[in-house]
Amino acid sequence: MVAAHGRCLRPPCNEQYCSSTTTAGVLTSPCRIASNSSRIESTFIQMPSTDKSFIGKRILTMSHMKRILVTGGAGFLGSHLCERLVADKHDVICLDNFFTSQKHNVTHLLREPNFELIRHDVTHPLWLEVDQIYNLACPASPGHYQYNPIKTMKTSVMGAINVLGMAKRCKARVLQASTSEVYGDPLVHPQAESYHGNVNPIGPRSCYDEGKRAAETLFMDYHRSNKVDIRIIRIFNTYGPRMHPFDGRVVSNFIRQAIANQDITIFGDGSQTRSFCYRDDLVEGMIRLMNHPNGPHTPVNIGNPGEYTILQLAETIIAMLGSKSKLSFHPLPQDDPTRRQPDITIAKKQLGWEPQVPLEKGLAKTIEWFRTIDIEQYRPPTPNFA
Ligand SMILES: NC(=O)c1ccc[n+]([C@@H]2O[C@H](COP(=O)([O-])OP(=O)(O)OC[C@H]3O[C@@H](n4cnc5c(N)ncnc54)[C@H](O)[C@@H]3O)[C@@H](O)[C@H]2O)c1
Repeated sequence: MVAAHGRCLRPPCNEQYCSSTTTAGVLTSPCRIASNSSRIESTFIQMPSTDKSFIGKRILTMSHMKRILVTGGAGFLGSHLCERLVADKHDVICLDNFFTSQKHNVTHLLREPNFELIRHDVTHPLWLEVDQIYNLACPASPGHYQYNPIKTMKTSVMGAINVLGMAKRCKARVLQASTSEVYGDPLVHPQAESYHGNVNPIGPRSCYDEGKRAAETLFMDYHRSNKVDIRIIRIFNTYGPRMHPFDGRVVSNFIRQAIANQDITIFGDGSQTRSFCYRDDLVEGMIRLMNHPNGPHTPVNIGNPGEYTILQLAETIIAMLGSKSKLSFHPLPQDDPTRRQPDITIAKKQLGWEPQVPLEKGLAKTIEWFRTIDIEQYRPPTPNFA
């Protein structure tokens, strides 16, 4: 149903040059925006928080599959998310510039008819028709995001503006992958979403921390001003198979070094704490947040509240691998947080979510994967990985 000038007459689309029409105004395919509005909302099945068996089960019953864009979809978390969404029979578009990832993270998905891969940089506008957007594109480890801090800030801010603009136009739901780094070096412990953080705005980590904070601001403002249906997940340290061996994060660094019997790099005295969430738990939390029918539209912490010192993590990995590695102590980088532990009360109450995979079990799976890879096949994204 298209007027002669090419404007789609299917409410609520009403777009000139709607992608379902040719410039001559001929309808070539069903208009996705119009059909979105008539879709029956996915049914969210509330799992009791005590249910230990939710992982691997589908939380949605679909009346129709959705077209879903995952920016940063070739990365560690993005590729697992794409895998899960493809398995759930959605139509998945993975977008990435491969700055901190390898194309082979998703090449196994290319044979699936409901998967597409686009090389694109989120700092540039893009024009797609989608129902949902997961915005994960951003370098995530300090060495790599500090390599080109201006680009990191642009990726967070311009990337957010571009996906929010698309979500506004398509009436898509959009989820921002935010971070526990918005809490900076926290003065409140554990960190609840109501805590506004303790962030240095001018330090070497600020390009990431403040970039993610600015992205959260943009998400909230598009929601308040333009009624864009947003979700914000604050991800705490997440690990698992398919982490880039040179991503410079603590779990991948320690495992890579321990397998090679090299010295384990410890910054500071190793008494700083972190919480480690296994990737399956994280992906489940992200999908639950995206598909919860009525929000929450404010940030939600997703992470594992188990708190470990960096020394404990190093010793556990050395013991699990039977490694001959010794600990090598280096000065603590500026603004490195001393404590980190999520308060996940909101995720438990509103999403029925809590982590299921204990650290040793998750580490065992991660170590097993690291043993299988050919490290020569991995290009360090920047020189800053240890
Ligand atoms: N893994 C964690 O512990 C963790 C913690 C907090 C937040 N996060 C957030 O989750 C998201 C995914 O993290 P990850 O651990 O999978 O990291 P990752 O580096 O593996 O994935 C990020 C992906 O984004 C891509 N990318 C970077 N800049 C881009 C750009 N300008 N345009 C398009 N693609 C770009 C990279 O190539 C990569 O594939 C990131 O936004 C990160 O900030 C992750």
